[in-house]
Amino acid sequence: MNLTEKIEQLKKEKKAVILAHNYQRPEIQDIADYTGDSIELSRQAAEEKNAKILVFSAVDFMAESAAILNPEKTVLLPSSGARCPMAQMLPLTQVKMWKKKYPKIPLVLYVNTLAEAKTECEVCCTSANAVEVIKAIDADTLLFGPDTNLAWYVQQKTGKKIIPIPPGGFCPTHLLFMKEDALLRKQEHSNAVIMVHPECSPDVQEIADFIGSTSQMCKYAKNSSSQRFVVATETGLLHRLKKENPNKEFYSAYEGGVCPNMKLNTLERIYLALKTEQTRITVPAAVAKKAKDALEKMYKLTS
Ligand code: 13P
Ligand code: SF4
Repeated sequence: MNLTEKIEQLKKEKKAVILAHNYQRPEIQDIADYTGDSIELSRQAAEEKNAKILVFSAVDFMAESAAILNPEKTVLLPSSGARCPMAQMLPLTQVKMWKKKYPKIPLVLYVNTLAEAKTECEVCCTSANAVEVIKAIDADTLLFGPDTNLAWYVQQKTGKKIIPIPPGGFCPTHLLFMKEDALLRKQEHSNAVIMVHPECSPDVQEIADFIGSTSQMCKYAKNSSSQRFVVATETGLLHRLKKENPNKEFYSAYEGGVCPNMKLNTLERIYLALKTEQTRITVPAAVAKKAKDALEKMYKLTS
């Protein structure tokens, strides 16, 4: 039996499903039961009523959200080292410090945070719904963390004052995308459409034809009459874009735009995770309860 067949067999035996983020390696996306952006994955995790095990092929905070929303299921992260460095930029101590500094200003946290940090916020958001969430909050000034670039995007779209915490929080992968590279690719490929993730810096966002989450880019590309696209987000998304649109062309704005943390998950590690039921992601009940409130409020405020 090859590795894929062994994975399939274990999945059946253990009633497991594999949920993979859009940045996962192509061979993982191809065997996953579901591939999506961060909000779609957490929604799908809740839909998997018959599953006992969720193999969350993504990074730590996404698996934590799945564990918070599905306490009765076993949530496995194939590589224990798959941690999002941006989520580490805003630990609980920092969140408390900023709240003390601005006691009257509501705090919205990007889902790219650890569960402990989420316990202190009013509501969470993803890149797909950040604008909708911020608009729905009855305040003109908000604290937002940890991504300064997403904070900038939301401020442009809502006209509200967004105070980024910590000042300068960023995704190391999206910071690699440069306006010059994207414009060069556009020129090389007959004036291709530029799609940009809002974790990219403001000057890259400013040259975008479309800005959105990973799955929003997939929808945009599918519905667009354009034939060629330059993509400014982690290169893993190119696999899904090409698979869903075989007659269109996709070019990475920068081929070095790889998230090493996302890529720690491999088919071998998925197989071992299923076999050993490790690494199990759990969240202490008191933390999970408060973090769940922040996540559920996000669902309530958005369609
Ligand atoms: P999406 O929600 O757009 O998939 O983004 C998650 C992420 O980590 C981007 O770097
Ligand atoms: Fe975190 Fe950036 Fe990797 Fe997304 S791409 S998981 S924000 S480091």
